Amino acid sequence: MSLFDKFRNLAKAREALLESGCDPFSVVLDEVLSSTEGIIGGRRTILAGTNNYLGLTFHQDCIDAAGVALAKEGTGTTGSRMANGTFSGHVALEREIAEFYQVRSSIVFSTGYLANLGMLSTLAGSDDVILLDADCHASIYDGCRMGDAEVIRFRHNNSSDLEKRMRRLGDRATRTIILVEGIYSMLGDRAPLKEIAEIKKKYNAFLVVDEAHSLGVLGQNGRGLAEEAGVEDSVDLIVGTFSKSLGATGGFCVSNHRELDMIRFASRPYIFTASPSPSVIASTRAALQILKTQPALRKKLWKNVEHLYKRLQRAGFKVGPEPSPVVATLLDTKEEGIRLWKELMDNGVYVNLVLPPAAPGEACLLRCSVSAGHSEEQIESICLAFESFK
Ligand SMILES: Cc1ncc(COP(=O)(O)O)c(C=O)c1O
Repeated sequence: MSLFDKFRNLAKAREALLESGCDPFSVVLDEVLSSTEGIIGGRRTILAGTNNYLGLTFHQDCIDAAGVALAKEGTGTTGSRMANGTFSGHVALEREIAEFYQVRSSIVFSTGYLANLGMLSTLAGSDDVILLDADCHASIYDGCRMGDAEVIRFRHNNSSDLEKRMRRLGDRATRTIILVEGIYSMLGDRAPLKEIAEIKKKYNAFLVVDEAHSLGVLGQNGRGLAEEAGVEDSVDLIVGTFSKSLGATGGFCVSNHRELDMIRFASRPYIFTASPSPSVIASTRAALQILKTQPALRKKLWKNVEHLYKRLQRAGFKVGPEPSPVVATLLDTKEEGIRLWKELMDNGVYVNLVLPPAAPGEACLLRCSVSAGHSEEQIESICLAFESFK
């Protein structure tokens, strides 16, 4: 017996994938040409498998801001937020995020993953309950696992199932955190947040929304699903990331609860890791400014979304339940999914292949993510590449 025996099944699955002639999980971008194009395996490829919803990774303001910070403050903070890793930029960004969400305060974490770990492991104690949508992201599950609360899943986007489970909790309902996402990362569907907010109010529970994929995408001001659904007042805490529409890395949470600041002193994923580097913070601040002042980007994103979603639907693909910047194509078998992924790559289009168990249920899916940075021609090329699949 060896320590590595536990990886045998994984190794077998990987060998089988390589035998099929493709290696979707080791794609290397040899060159990044823009927010929507790169060189992969020597060929110019349209990037339709990023989370670069507003296409800001190459925005001149973000690059300039990062450059200035790099020159002035150096390459890294070399320490955690609690020790030497809080620079004036971190504090300014926290203020700007809180202002953007019109709430009392915010906390910046080193990644979106750590924001979920940091918030959930700290907020939910041994007497508490977390009721989470079954399709929630791995970072939410891991955050739950790191804490001591009882964790109960409800059926994806099923408010009746949520309410049934909430009712069963009786007196414990007031110590229950309901956890949902704005846009789910695999199928691109939104949470039924109005109904969920009603349940939260009825049972006097606590509501957390992860707006990782909806920040900059939904709502009149781009604040996400809570804004779009008109329920911001009912949401206790929003978690999000800088790694998608803001084109950097880092995570945050915002809340009107006065006690939010105390999380800093209790949260291990906040205390025991280095803070985001100054250039990352600077580009994020610039990106947030663009998100706030250029709603045209959101319009362009949605125009691209509608185009791609409708074309794939018309071509007979089984797509996700509603148009969103995550356009999922569901395939009946793994083999079919791999074949489509490979054909798209051969046609110069990169998307994400998602195999079970990472995909919800038994499905295999291809996940396209749309960007405001995609030109009409690029969206057309993506459509044509899908349509040529036999
Ligand atoms: C819903 C959700 N939350 C959190 C994260 C983690 O964000 P990050 O990659 O910035 O750590 C992701 C990442 O894809 C996500 O989809």
